[in-house]
Amino acid sequence: MYKIAVAGTGYVGLVAGVCFAEVGHQVTCVDIDEKKVDLMKSGVSPIYEAGLEELMQMNYAAGRIEYTTDYKQAYRDADAIFIGVGTPEQPDGSANLSYIATVARQIAENIEKDCLVVVKSTVPVGTNDKVEQFIQDFLVNDVKVEVASNPEFLAQGSAVHDTLYAERIIIGTESKWAEGLLKKIYEPFHLPIVAVNRRSAEMIKYASNDFLALKISYMNDIANLCELVGADIQDVARGMSFDERIGSKFLNAGIGYGGSCFPKDTKALEYIAKQNGYELKTVKAAIDVNKDQKTLLYKKASKRLITFNGLKVAVLGLTFKPGTDDLREAPSLDNVPLLLEQGADIYAYDPVGAENFAKLYPQGKNGKGSITYVGNVEEALEEANVCFVFTEWGEIKAVTPADYKKLMRTPLVFDGRNLYGVYVMGEAGVEYHSVGRQTSA
Ligand code: UGA
Repeated sequence: MYKIAVAGTGYVGLVAGVCFAEVGHQVTCVDIDEKKVDLMKSGVSPIYEAGLEELMQMNYAAGRIEYTTDYKQAYRDADAIFIGVGTPEQPDGSANLSYIATVARQIAENIEKDCLVVVKSTVPVGTNDKVEQFIQDFLVNDVKVEVASNPEFLAQGSAVHDTLYAERIIIGTESKWAEGLLKKIYEPFHLPIVAVNRRSAEMIKYASNDFLALKISYMNDIANLCELVGADIQDVARGMSFDERIGSKFLNAGIGYGGSCFPKDTKALEYIAKQNGYELKTVKAAIDVNKDQKTLLYKKASKRLITFNGLKVAVLGLTFKPGTDDLREAPSLDNVPLLLEQGADIYAYDPVGAENFAKLYPQGKNGKGSITYVGNVEEALEEANVCFVFTEWGEIKAVTPADYKKLMRTPLVFDGRNLYGVYVMGEAGVEYHSVGRQTSA
């Protein structure tokens, strides 16, 4: 078993750290935020993620994981240091690498034995070469240090499962020593390992995320055409999915991909291409389609209604997907401000995301409109003039066509997640607009 330090306790770092402890390694998670460290020590996860807290508590009690702000202590005698800090998007689409650089310097100034530095954060191709050089430049003690790339493929909402039962582990190294050590660290997971060079590993991460983003944008593009020619995107997707070359996953049309990864990683790869004098036309198309798709429901509703002014508007779902409290790039953030600008009185429901949303849009009057956060779907729908579905939470899927008809003043629903059958909604007396399908009148 190895002594592992993990820098950064966001989704990537914390989940990796906890899973390394779970398979028996001795782990120290480092974060600069003292409050967060105290919280984690008390067994509370700073992020909402199924199963994570239980594993944190069990491994903490077993003495396999600790949390600290003291990076000097944590890095000094680690066999491997995993970096999982953020690489946020900058205005030009490039990735901000300042957090990685800070950690790299701290590592260089504090390690006292040979050490493998493993970058888990998503970074532009070639970054790990630079990180290695940077560490060498600032190295204080006479020790061997190498940098490896080990991109992360977990999805929010299923992060622990995705890590413990990953479909593949990608390791990008430049020496047999680094490759061997990483393979040993991952041995207890019993998962397929793909060993490549560092730049290929960095590229695999972007190419995978951007391919999935492209797949979604392609389906959204086809969905918009389906509406115009009288086809049904769900039937079309089902028909396509039997072809194993296409597969059945990530074929759901909707109101665009959100979250902290696809939007950022598509723009980052487009930027990398541009820097290298190349235009990545497919990825650019995915970005363009997604931008338009985000406000699809608002555009549809604006065509149907003369005004939103003074209307009670039910908003069901605020987060970018179910199973997370994350609002980053969520379609709700594109549509709610437009509705408020038009004077809508919004009644919003989300099982976990409302608190975060209220930080951005506090309860009460907001511009020409207002926003009220409610604790259940019924309160949102009661006497509403129109309803928008932005996230497919279980609690929202459980609403029946008859509920819309019974609770709303006018049963008019704009669904960005295609949760209901068009015919069923029509039969129940609901005017139902969705994505890539016909409208029930
Ligand atoms: C994504 C990838 O799925 C992970 O493999 C990757 O590790 C992660 O990014 C990352 O780079 O860290 P995540 O952003 O958590 O994970 O969420 P996804 O479940 O992939 O969903 C992203 C967006 O696509 C959501 O807004 C979702 O609603 C949308 N989506 C997904 C669709 O519109 N249609 C689909 O068929 C699938």
